[in-house]
Amino acid sequence: GAAVTADISKLEEGQLIRVEWRGKPVWLVKRSQASLDQLPQLNSMLRDPESADEQQPAYAQNIYRSKKPEIFVAVGICTHLGCSPTYIPTDFDAHVEGVHSGFFCPCHGSTYDLAGRVFSGVPAPKNLQIPPYMFIDDNTLVIG
Ligand code: FES
Repeated sequence: GAAVTADISKLEEGQLIRVEWRGKPVWLVKRSQASLDQLPQLNSMLRDPESADEQQPAYAQNIYRSKKPEIFVAVGICTHLGCSPTYIPTDFDAHVEGVHSGFFCPCHGSTYDLAGRVFSGVPAPKNLQIPPYMFIDDNTLVIG
């Protein structure tokens, strides 16, 4: 399939933008240092904290599930039955206690952290998929 180029020069901290790749929504999120710092603290609440289930390219199998820590790239499709989760930039506490931000699927209540890792005890079986991507330069990303 065709690769898609995304300009992230205007992406602000905390912001999410969507691009379409192979008919799927792909999210680009610029994460704050505070939200990155929280990720390791969530491991005990997650189904697959180490992302062992191969839902990402090898270069994104790390705690941030990304090439550059601050830029998160993921396919925005719930791994349960395919709804598109909602981005919760700041007030995730209502869904998962003590967690500042992440993604919430309104269809059956699955929750993901800001690295797209699924929380335990929800219907979704796997972490969000990370597509293949590369940076052409600091502000330009190619997906696919
Ligand atoms: Fe997301 Fe069921 S489709 S929880």
